[in-house]
Amino acid sequence: MSTEEGVGPLPASEASEARTEPRMRVVKGRPWRIDPGRRAKWSEEDFVRRHALAIRQIGDPVLHAPAKRPTLPKAELEALVARMFASMVAAQGIGIAAPQVGVALRIAIMDVDEAGIVAIDPRIEWTSDELEDTSEGCLSVRGFYGMLQRPAAARLVALDLNARRFTLEGDELGAQCMLHETDHLSGTLYVQHLRSREDLRSVDPDETEEVTA
Ligand code: NI
Repeated sequence: MSTEEGVGPLPASEASEARTEPRMRVVKGRPWRIDPGRRAKWSEEDFVRRHALAIRQIGDPVLHAPAKRPTLPKAELEALVARMFASMVAAQGIGIAAPQVGVALRIAIMDVDEAGIVAIDPRIEWTSDELEDTSEGCLSVRGFYGMLQRPAAARLVALDLNARRFTLEGDELGAQCMLHETDHLSGTLYVQHLRSREDLRSVDPDETEEVTA
């Protein structure tokens, strides 16, 4: 997913302020993560060039159908996650779902505040009644962002690469990313949540500060 810095609910100064608490937190279990070592290796220019896949764009059938729970052996899952991460880095995203690289499996990376969370078969367990207005973009809807309402907080349960269950909570951009990526696995894009066509805007070409998922 992506958000347009400066168009979102937070002024840039506030958004860049040091946070005391990450916007995405593991509250139960201890998931397999993209730790600093993997992040360094998988962000390396040569690795990204060799492993990044093309990001599928809106209209591609793989983005509009529910994905299946993966049954791959762990080594293959990890190789796929590495390719997804490289693709996300190449496209400057903060999250990515397997269907976006053409793989119809329920796997997502959620990387708000470099959380490095890999979620297999994630399900949203709870969302707050409180909603917030946000701006949101998607690597699969290139050149646009939308203004929509999302729950301000959410909780998600998923499996890690070792098939162990964990629980994740997020607020603000953290919740938005969890909802956005989980939606991808059901074949839903954020544009389907827009209240009107007017809420879809094209990205200002002068705007370089872009965060996307
Ligand atoms: Ni997306």
